[in-house]
Amino acid sequence: MKTVSNFYTEKLADGGAILAPMAGFTDAPFRMLCREYGSSWAVTEMVSAKGMVLGDLKGIEIGEPYPDEPNLVIQVFGGEPELVAAGSAKLYELYKPKAIDLNMGCPVKKITGKSCGSKLMQDPERAAEIVATLNASVPVPVSAKMRLGFDQLNVLEVAQAVEAAGASMIAVHGRTAVQKYTGEANWEAIAEVAQALTIPVAGSGDVGSKAQFELYKSWGLGVMIARASIGQPWVFAELLGKETLSLEEKIKTAYRHALLHLNWYGAQNLERERHLMRQFRGQLLKYFAFLPESKSELIKIESLAALQNFILEYFALDFSGFTSNELRRDYSLI
Ligand SMILES: Cc1cc2nc3c(=O)[nH]c(=O)nc-3n(C[C@H](O)[C@H](O)[C@H](O)COP(=O)(O)O)c2cc1C
Repeated sequence: MKTVSNFYTEKLADGGAILAPMAGFTDAPFRMLCREYGSSWAVTEMVSAKGMVLGDLKGIEIGEPYPDEPNLVIQVFGGEPELVAAGSAKLYELYKPKAIDLNMGCPVKKITGKSCGSKLMQDPERAAEIVATLNASVPVPVSAKMRLGFDQLNVLEVAQAVEAAGASMIAVHGRTAVQKYTGEANWEAIAEVAQALTIPVAGSGDVGSKAQFELYKSWGLGVMIARASIGQPWVFAELLGKETLSLEEKIKTAYRHALLHLNWYGAQNLERERHLMRQFRGQLLKYFAFLPESKSELIKIESLAALQNFILEYFALDFSGFTSNELRRDYSLI
C-alpha cells in the first residue's frame, strides 16, 4: 500500500476555507488570488481524464498550474476506472498536485450522459472502483467531491463506499444533482456523512458569511466556497476574521486579476487582448457589482488601458505599485 501524506488533514487544521472547483473560474490566476487571501487549498476546474490520455491540449490548459503552485488539488472527471487512473497519472507527472479529486457532482447532461460526474452517485460500486484504481495510480491522496445523491439522497452509502476504496477526503455539495443549484444546501445531511466516516469531510453550498463558516467548522466540517468568491477572492480573508479590505484594495485586486488573466492566457496582440478582456467580463462585472450604474461602461471594456481609464474615472487610483512582474507568468516572480 502506498503511504500518502496527510495533506487534507493538515490543511484542514489550518482552519481556512477552501476554494471549491468551478469550471470557467478556478484557473491559475484566480486560485493564486484566493490563496493569497487565505484559502487553505484550491481546486482546479474539472479536467477530462480521457482528454489527458488523448493529449487534448485544451483540457491540459484547464488544469495547468503556475510552476510550483502550492496547495494545488486537481479535479478530474471520467467514468472508466482505467481512464481516470491513466489521465490522473499524467496530470500528476506534469504538475505534481498535492492531491487528485474525482468529480462526482457535475449535473450537466454532457457529463452525466457519459456516466461521469453526478451520474456516479447512482453507481457506488463503479465510483469505488474508480477511486481504488485512481488511488493506486498516483502517489498523493485521492478525494471525491459529490452531491447528496443523483435524484435521491444516498450520499451516505456512496461516501462509505468511496472511503472504503481509499479516499482520503470527501467533499459534499449539499444538494442532489437534479436540484442543480435550486433550494438550499442541506448542511445537516453533510454533517451526517462526516459522523459516519473516519476521513475528513468538507461541505459545499451557499456559504458566504463568517457566521455560517464558523458554524459549519464547529460541526467538524471543512468549508468550501465557490460562488461567493467570484469577484471577491478576499472573502477568504474575511472568513478568517481579517480586517475588511478597503475599496481601493478591492479595486486593485480586480485590476490585478485582469492583468494576471491577460498574462496567463497570453495577450500577445490587441486582438487577443480584446478576446481575453471579453472573456474576463463576467468576473469584472462581479468585482464592480457594487457600482451598478457603471455596467454599461464595463461591458465595453476591451483592453487593460480601458480598464485603467475606467478605474481612474471612478476612483482616481494610483497604479504605480503595479510592476511589470505582475505581467509575468512565473509564479515565483509575483
Ligand atoms: C460556475 C460553476 C462551475 C462549477 N464547476 C464545478 C466543477 O468543475 N467541479 C465541481 O466539483 N463542482 C463545480 N461546481 C460546484 C461548486 O464547486 C460548489 O459545490 C457549488 O457551487 C455550491 O457551492 P457555492 O454555493 O459556494 O457556490 C461549480 C459551480 C459553479 C457555480
